Amino acid sequence: MSSFPQVRLRRLRESPALRRMAQETRLSVSDFIYPIFVTHGRDVQNQIEPMPGISQLSLDHLISEVGEVSDLGIPAVLLFGIPAEKDPEGREAYEPGGIVQEAIRVIKETAPDLMVITDVCLCEYTDHGHCGAIVDGKVDNDRTLELLAKTAVCQAEAGADMVGPSAMMDGQVGAIRDALDIAGFVDTPIMAYSAKYSSAFYGPFRVAAESEPQFGDRKGYQMDPANIRQAMREIEQDIDEGADLVMVKPALAYLDVISAARDTFGYPMAAYNVSGEYSMVKAAAENEWIDGQRVALEILTAIKRAGADMVITYHAKEVARWLAAER
Ligand code: PBG
Repeated sequence: MSSFPQVRLRRLRESPALRRMAQETRLSVSDFIYPIFVTHGRDVQNQIEPMPGISQLSLDHLISEVGEVSDLGIPAVLLFGIPAEKDPEGREAYEPGGIVQEAIRVIKETAPDLMVITDVCLCEYTDHGHCGAIVDGKVDNDRTLELLAKTAVCQAEAGADMVGPSAMMDGQVGAIRDALDIAGFVDTPIMAYSAKYSSAFYGPFRVAAESEPQFGDRKGYQMDPANIRQAMREIEQDIDEGADLVMVKPALAYLDVISAARDTFGYPMAAYNVSGEYSMVKAAAENEWIDGQRVALEILTAIKRAGADMVITYHAKEVARWLAAER
């Protein structure tokens, strides 16, 4: 009684209702974190060419954007800032008047229940475009830790609900945890970009965030795409240092890493469906080579099926609309 013809796996695929009941993975608007790029000035809405539907926004436009995000039921946004000026140590990242800090205050006034997560990194703010301070021609780990810790505290002071260190410096989670605790932010969680790969899928983001490195590349700190055992070590380290959430990034080409991390640690986990993954879907859909909606939903379902509890995605707003229309 355990094989065909008694067993017919197609029985559970017979009707839409049954297919719905048998579904193992379900997307919900609660799964998503929506990235937003904020910039100085007034009435600025710079459409990012390789990322249709995504723009750099000045604070006046941010107000309607977060209103929309929150009306759609998306629980969280992830902020990236384009500074007025870049310098070797990325000062605007940790100035109270920095663009991200201003944006946090605006969001907290407009949509107080929306979770505001910040990216803790220097690459958008440094003139050389690297994620940390340069000492003797190299990205200096320990000097960068001081600046990242300052950035996280400055963001928490402005009202950030959660901070996301993404610079891939050793010890960054511990350094930020200590600094937040000393400053009194003992309840501010850390979403650690733990297994962050040196990926060509970040290409469109670097246009959006104006953060292309001016010399060399990020291979000295971001991970080699060939490695998974090392990803487990990175995640383990971040958990030990006090991360509340761990992340795998990018997502689509790293589903095995997401799945291994889920099995190994069972820790709350985010995955970042990054810019290049979004751009590929948009470009192919615009050419009518694929059905963009179905492909986006399939990719996001796969990321969740692999083991991610939450997904950072540029598709969040449109997916929220598609899911709402299904009901
Ligand atoms: C670094 C950072 C990057 C992304 C998020 N945070 C870029 C990089 O490391 O080069 C990429 C996200 C994306 O591609 O959507 N602060």
